[in-house]
Amino acid sequence: MNKIRLHDKTFRPFIPNEQIEKAIDNVAAQLNRDYDGCSDIPVLLCVLNGSILFTAELMKRLTFNCEIVSMKLSSYVGTHSTGKTREVMGLTGSVKDKRVIIVEDIVDTGQTIVDLKKIMEEKGAKESKVCTMLLKPAVYGKNVKLDYVGMEIPNDFIVGFGLDYDELGRNYKDIYVLDTNMNYFILFGPPGAGKGTQAAAMVEKCNLCHISTGDLLRGEMAKGSELGLKAKALIEAGELVPDEIVEGMIENKFKTVTGVHGFLLDGFPRTIAQAEALDKMLDKSKEKVTAVVSLMIPDSMIKERIKHRASIEGRADDAKDETIANRIKTYHEKTEPLVEYYKRAGKYYEIDGTGTIEEVRQRISDLLDKF
Ligand code: AP5
Ligand code: MG
Repeated sequence: MNKIRLHDKTFRPFIPNEQIEKAIDNVAAQLNRDYDGCSDIPVLLCVLNGSILFTAELMKRLTFNCEIVSMKLSSYVGTHSTGKTREVMGLTGSVKDKRVIIVEDIVDTGQTIVDLKKIMEEKGAKESKVCTMLLKPAVYGKNVKLDYVGMEIPNDFIVGFGLDYDELGRNYKDIYVLDTNMNYFILFGPPGAGKGTQAAAMVEKCNLCHISTGDLLRGEMAKGSELGLKAKALIEAGELVPDEIVEGMIENKFKTVTGVHGFLLDGFPRTIAQAEALDKMLDKSKEKVTAVVSLMIPDSMIKERIKHRASIEGRADDAKDETIANRIKTYHEKTEPLVEYYKRAGKYYEIDGTGTIEEVRQRISDLLDKF
């Protein structure tokens, strides 16, 4: 079995098909023991789309007369999990006065199971039992009895045998787990701290993709795009652009960049809301921020460095004293609270940003050796 690539992520072989088939044999044997010879006709509820393969394999092995209905649920509205399951596609047949076997591909927190049981009760089912191919015991937190469990697995992000990553991967007959060797470094610091200057060496050392939200926004401004026009006035006043704009840019890069061992986020996140959005984005694939590399220099040095750069690069937000002053103010008010946020998460590493470019580079390089 080889690794597979789905969208921007790599997955490695985890559970071979033979092991899955054996687990299904076991579950089917238990069901046959419990339902064989029954006078009623139980109904299998196939929870779309994930449990299509499992339901089909299971059904082939059942020796009692049974019906099948399906329904689709989704816990997502837009891109953020709302934590609430909602019914997307209704039941394809009646369960009234019937015994229902809910067939799930995977149970993690158990919220879907709680909702499905409630829906079955509302639709007049006589009883409902739960039959799941996979269970993540480490995160299962509900009181609902899981009547039939194929296999227990750790809390990893998996695909294959019906399970997907953004709709891809369902067709594989084996199960794969996310290859979590991706690093997500945040290059943090006030304006002019040397983030852009130090990024190149970091990128080369760790094979990262450098994403500077400032550079991306200046690119949009140069193109004169709608987004660029929106950002221009804010940037030239030393204010931040709205969170959703930069979050969208970051998510888009995560989805489209391939062939790297991770990302170097320069100038993102810049607000607590952006940091929370980043955590949510990574959590979808059970990934995490690796470390925050924080370059610190005093405010007086910020002005000095930016004035020096103004004479070379001609960046619009470097031109006026008031803009520079407002960028420093915005940093202290909106961005500095992230220091506490990442200290609490145990991810914060401060580097003295004063001294020569080479001295700072060496300090960062020594830190990166730890990861
Ligand atoms: P952005 O482009 O990120 O600007 P910034 O954070 O203000 O940081 P700079 O790029 O000015 O500084 P740097 O740390 O990269 O320093 P550099 O290496 O160039 O953001 C611009 C604007 O976009 C924001 O104000 C905001 O409006 C918007 N924006 C961006 N991201 C956003 C987000 N996430 N949310 C909302 N809005 C967002 O170094 C500076 C100078 O110092 C250079 O000339 C360099 O050569 C020199 N230098 C560097 N190191 C040394 C050294 N050790 N010794 C001497 N000189 C040095
Ligand atoms: Mg920069």
